[in-house]
Amino acid sequence: MAKLLEMKNISKSFYGVPVLTNVNFSVDRGEVIALCGENGAGKSTLMKILAAIYRYDQGEILLDGEPLPHHIQPLEMQKRGVSMIHQELNLMEHLTVAQNIFLTREPLGKSGLINYRKMNAEAKKLLESLGQDNISPTALVSTLKTAQKQMVEIAKAISFNLKVLIMDEPTAMLTQRETDILFDLIRKLAKQGIGIIYISHRLKEIKEVCDSVTILRDGMFIVSKPVSEVTEQQIANYMVGREVSTSQASDFCGDCNDIVLEVRNVSDSLLKNVSFKVCRGEIVGLSGLVGSGRSELMEVIFGIRKPKTGEIYLNGKKIVNKKPVHAIKRGIGFVTEDRQKTGVVIKRSIRENINLIDQVKNKGFFNSARKHKANTDEMIKRLNIRCASQTQLVSNLSGGNKQKIVLAKWLLVDQDILILDEPTRGIDVGAREEIYAIINELSKSGKTIIVVSSDLTEVLNICQRVIVMHEGMIKGELTHDDRTEEKIMSFATNAC
Ligand SMILES: Nc1ncnc2c1ncn2[C@@H]1O[C@H](COP(=O)(O)OP(=O)(O)OP(=O)(O)O)[C@@H](O)[C@H]1O
Ligand SMILES: [Mg+2]
Repeated sequence: MAKLLEMKNISKSFYGVPVLTNVNFSVDRGEVIALCGENGAGKSTLMKILAAIYRYDQGEILLDGEPLPHHIQPLEMQKRGVSMIHQELNLMEHLTVAQNIFLTREPLGKSGLINYRKMNAEAKKLLESLGQDNISPTALVSTLKTAQKQMVEIAKAISFNLKVLIMDEPTAMLTQRETDILFDLIRKLAKQGIGIIYISHRLKEIKEVCDSVTILRDGMFIVSKPVSEVTEQQIANYMVGREVSTSQASDFCGDCNDIVLEVRNVSDSLLKNVSFKVCRGEIVGLSGLVGSGRSELMEVIFGIRKPKTGEIYLNGKKIVNKKPVHAIKRGIGFVTEDRQKTGVVIKRSIRENINLIDQVKNKGFFNSARKHKANTDEMIKRLNIRCASQTQLVSNLSGGNKQKIVLAKWLLVDQDILILDEPTRGIDVGAREEIYAIINELSKSGKTIIVVSSDLTEVLNICQRVIVMHEGMIKGELTHDDRTEEKIMSFATNAC
């Protein structure tokens, strides 16, 4: 029997720059296959070609052994059974769940008008088959949580006669529990014979949920192997093309009495009497479950959120940051977790984005075009950002490279305190190590870093001290010597 899906010798260039070169990729019925590669390796592009969002320049795609026409449209591709859940979800926020699922295919009544009752009933059935009874078909998508939106996308995919489901970094925004639910669903769909293509930078997840792994590097096919035959380390090495080292948190060697930032008794609707201190040059992790108040606490420090009570001290002096610009001018930086919404200006160039904060902070001074160009060059080199030119729109960058742009604009202004909220989400293993090295370097030069992260390995690997939050409160603090995953989790879940 023919393979479920075969992509043969696929090549693609953007504006004359090759992004994929003769790539072969195939999926069997019921197979969960991981597609791995560094940021910018071409994973999303290959999958967008499969979903008929981009056209390939050369090659062939066969579904059930049958060649697909080159000029096929995305909707036709979905009808034939190939659906893609994008890295940045793709739903219409102002429409209902059911409207999104049946967009352009709404069931019509005798009068020729949309039969809403039927549409909602069918959407309900689909959601129930995924175990998602709690999502109402008539709810507006804008009111749903990320994990629920993803389930709506999956419901939409299975509303076609689904054969191949592509998931581009589906767990990047999910909690551990939501991830577990998604994995159960992936296994269930695979049992029904659906082929699943799973893109992720979390190698642990790949070992957990995938049967095989295909690796791309610089737009080229490198290797395809059963997951049982490769270690996480080997996958990383194949991706990067060299040995990837793993970093270890260094001891804090600064002065414990040199307090840079102090938060005293901060409370608001979510935060409950939060107090903590951070020293100059220290790397502190802020851990806890999603919703525990970590991001909100950082927003208070940065002047996005106004606390009801409590004070903030910078170098021993009380400060009030009414707006982010106050915090920026006082030397605080904030790499936000949602790059799409608050991290980058998607319709602007790389150069404009990288110089954005510099312009806010140093208004009117040093703002020559030449300086901007030099700044951008420096950052592209320092963070190894993969792009065609400085003037390329950020919207055209790969997911991980967008994240690097967010980091770059803050590194450029050399803040004394840098808050990093999920700094390596969507970042590949090699680049992650580079970012950890930068964090270490910053701390050694006296900068203070606060890392908010859901990734426990990350917290343990780079932070010298870990503060754990639960339901708006600080539940515990772990020093360098007694930090373990178990201890963090037991504070985070309030089990101790
Ligand atoms: N529409 C586009 N126009 C121009 N260049 C593009 C476009 N889409 C992607 N690229 C370029 O193609 C290359 C591959 O990008 P792609 O998004 O496929 O990477 P990826 O492997 O998915 O990376 P990540 O892990 O960061 O998501 C990148 O260098 C990117 O800048
Ligand atoms: Mg991608």
